[in-house]
Amino acid sequence: MTEGRLHYLLISQSQKLMNSSPDVLIMGGGAIGLATAIELASHGAQVTLLSRNFQEAALHAAAGMLAPQAEGLAPGSMLDLCLQSRALYPDWTAQLTAFTGLETGYWPCGILAPCYGNSVPTETRVEEREWCDRTTLLQHQPDLSPEVVGGWWFPQDAQVNPQQLAQVLWQAAQQLGITLAEGVCVNALECRDNQIQQVQTNVGTWQAQTYVLATGAWSQQLLPIPVTPRKGQLLSVQTTAQPLRQILFGSDVYIVPRQAGRIVVGATSEDVGFAAYNTPDGIHALLTAAMRLYPPLADFPLEDCWWGFRPATPDEEPILGQSPYKNLILATGHYRNGILLAPITARLLTALILSGQADPCLADFSWQRFTPQFPITPHPSQVVLSSMITRF
Ligand code: GLY
Repeated sequence: MTEGRLHYLLISQSQKLMNSSPDVLIMGGGAIGLATAIELASHGAQVTLLSRNFQEAALHAAAGMLAPQAEGLAPGSMLDLCLQSRALYPDWTAQLTAFTGLETGYWPCGILAPCYGNSVPTETRVEEREWCDRTTLLQHQPDLSPEVVGGWWFPQDAQVNPQQLAQVLWQAAQQLGITLAEGVCVNALECRDNQIQQVQTNVGTWQAQTYVLATGAWSQQLLPIPVTPRKGQLLSVQTTAQPLRQILFGSDVYIVPRQAGRIVVGATSEDVGFAAYNTPDGIHALLTAAMRLYPPLADFPLEDCWWGFRPATPDEEPILGQSPYKNLILATGHYRNGILLAPITARLLTALILSGQADPCLADFSWQRFTPQFPITPHPSQVVLSSMITRF
């Protein structure tokens, strides 16, 4: 995969990966669905995207950290994928901005991870991170908690503004001629001979050559794959002059400054199903941890609080690539890293759909790691309904 391919928005019709346009139906209007739709359409595919409720997508709830390092991902294929995607961000967002005229809020501000207690490491420089003692840390960021003894500095980690990114993606999709069908709820996938024949929705059936499942935390309502909601509550305060110079990443809270003076505090991680509300307990926990880490926060005007549902898998890694159905591609389960992984997911799946070539890295994210025996029944016609969830 070369950096040159980042210029996908400028690709002319003659550079299509296929001679004839495939007809792709994407289920899900979140970061993954939209980014994949845009990548496909920019390579000449005719794309339709179905979204039940665009505002419900996990990206609206996210803080927008691009933080493979601060999140502490273990070395391996997931960290590699996240690092690749983070590396795509500067050009990806610049291309989107050039195409739409809208800003994404991409900001390579770095992340500071202050530590409490006596946990000073013996090794103070490890690949992309650097240990700072308290004095150095306070030069990076004044007014941290008196309890902070030092911390890790991750200069390569960054952020994007999820609300701005959502608007940019939606706008780019419209400009590329993608059919964006909002208010369309996919109720079932109909399949025959291990192929999806059509999808049933609240407004009738839709057909395509290829289908992409990008329905995030709701994926299990359509297919028996182990993706469950993990609720995150967030809140924000508003300042007149932004006092934070980078993201602060604590063990149980993160504090994300926006350039316009807003500060986002996140996020809880709750296994409570689709409980669609903020709770006093969740907000209390966030505020307590945030004020401990950065005491000045206690005096800023409280602005808003909200929540979202991360799509979690048992190993907290996404499910990507070919499904047991020949014309159904999976792009779900991105858990804490959906926004970060949007550009790389879009690229890998576009190559898979348009050229039939699966990048070797997709093998590590196959659905088969959870369930080698996918429940396909050899009936001539099968409607895959949510009742099949019980098979897991
Ligand atoms: N990416 C951070 C979170 O999901 O809370």
